[in-house]
Amino acid sequence: MQIATDPANTAPQKNPTVIEMRQVCTRFGSHLVHDALDLDVQRGEIFAIVGGSGSGKSTLLREMIMLHRPDSGSIKILGTDVLAVSQEEAHVLRQRWGVMFQHGGLFGTLNVRDNVGLPLREHTDLDDRLIDEVAAWKITLSGLEPEAGMQYPTELSGGMLKRASMARALALDPELLFLDEPTAGLDPGGAAALTLWCATCMSYIS
Ligand SMILES: Nc1ncnc2c1ncn2[C@@H]1O[C@H](COP(=O)(O)OP(=O)(O)OP(=O)(O)O)[C@@H](O)[C@H]1O
Ligand SMILES: [Mg+2]
Repeated sequence: MQIATDPANTAPQKNPTVIEMRQVCTRFGSHLVHDALDLDVQRGEIFAIVGGSGSGKSTLLREMIMLHRPDSGSIKILGTDVLAVSQEEAHVLRQRWGVMFQHGGLFGTLNVRDNVGLPLREHTDLDDRLIDEVAAWKITLSGLEPEAGMQYPTELSGGMLKRASMARALALDPELLFLDEPTAGLDPGGAAALTLWCATCMSYIS
């Protein structure tokens, strides 16, 4: 066997690694959830993790976004070691990703527009009027009717909750989008529509 080389070096360059996990071990008491897990995701890649209920998918995501610390191993996100960041670095890093949590994670006391505007209030100097405009745009982009912006999470259907959560995840035009079970609990038609829409959003982001 021979390995061909490209003397003109015209081969496409490998995209930078945006997620790098090495030898990650996670335990809850005596329950071993991740056993020396390695994982790499390149920029522009759509990477899906599939596994049974309780296999550790959400925990893995929580480790990537600094909500849970593994027992051992290393995690680099966008080139930063998230297990050794300062508070300031963590604050900056959180602006570079969007997260759609498995159960939506919207604040029940805020309407959809204010939930979507929250990352903008936290991380930008935009004034309230502009924040409301950007939130309205993201709500439309998510496929919700503009009126949904005035509704509260308890007034939304499961599919609407997912879309509102997606709108919030997209608020800061993130470099990385984490989606935890984006279609779980939806009817097959709704799941297919949301999958297509997620793919469109991701190509829009990258
Ligand atoms: N804070 C915690 N304390 C104790 N055990 C936990 C904790 N968080 C998760 N676990 C356990 O870790 C395992 C993995 O949970 P996780 O939520 O990551 O699974 P999952 O793959 O996302 O499951 P599902 O598909 O049902 O969402 C489960 O056995 C769960 O009970
Ligand atoms: Mg889960």
